[in-house]
Amino acid sequence: MKFSEKLIALLKSDPSVTVLTGAGVSAESGVETFRGENGLWRKFKPEELASVDAFLSNPELVWEWYGYRKNLICDIQPNPGHYSISEMERIFTSFYLITQNVDGLHKRAGNSRPIELHGNIMRNRCTGCDKQFENIEFSGEIDQIPTCDSCSEMLRPDVVWFGEMLPKDALEESEIAISNSDVFFSIGTSAVVQPAATMPVWAKNNGAYLVEINPEETPLTTYADEVINGKSGVILPELLREIKE
Ligand code: APR
Repeated sequence: MKFSEKLIALLKSDPSVTVLTGAGVSAESGVETFRGENGLWRKFKPEELASVDAFLSNPELVWEWYGYRKNLICDIQPNPGHYSISEMERIFTSFYLITQNVDGLHKRAGNSRPIELHGNIMRNRCTGCDKQFENIEFSGEIDQIPTCDSCSEMLRPDVVWFGEMLPKDALEESEIAISNSDVFFSIGTSAVVQPAATMPVWAKNNGAYLVEINPEETPLTTYADEVINGKSGVILPELLREIKE
């Protein structure tokens, strides 16, 4: 039995469930994680690509970097882990999904309102007036940085960069989820980037049963009530089958 009787009984009682996801949930779709052995931060320096300073000193490079990541994403599909999390939204009366991922795969898998803590790579926004724009391709021409049609300032990817505040609405929605959770799943995240890394701890301190799903240990592992070692694309479908038995 991969799952405790306590967890299965809890999940069969229609509890309020919150799922927090990280890059590991998209790994089985072919999206590189950040800190794994082939992780993006092993090949590229985040401070050179995912920060305001990087953007202001070299907007072309940052636009090209996000174009590269968008190209990696546009050919991939959600995996069984994403579809299981989408089904959880339909199974549980009270369900929240908080994601650190910017790849948009949770929405494509059917989750209607993921709380996107770190933004969405398929959206852009103006550095001057904050106006939002759907996906814009960057031609790669040095003098072709996309600009705002309202105030003519440069556009940027609508993702949260290192050192930046998270979107206020995402933080507020996360607080509601955390304070309402009977069961809190931390899935596919290394639990090292704040404030997401502390959210499972807050939830547990609020009385939630904390479950971690990850093939490796993380700083959260010793704190979790239940740790399920393995891939989310394998474990989550099995978990849903057991709940529905
Ligand atoms: N299923 C579940 N977990 C997996 C899988 C899988 N198939 N494959 C890898 N993992 C786990 C790894 O063991 C690791 O703990 O996913 C985690 C990925 O960790 P990171 O690469 O650090 O990604 P994440 O936790 O999402 O990073 C948080 O850091 O760089 C910033 O903004 C970026 O949102 C990102 C944040």
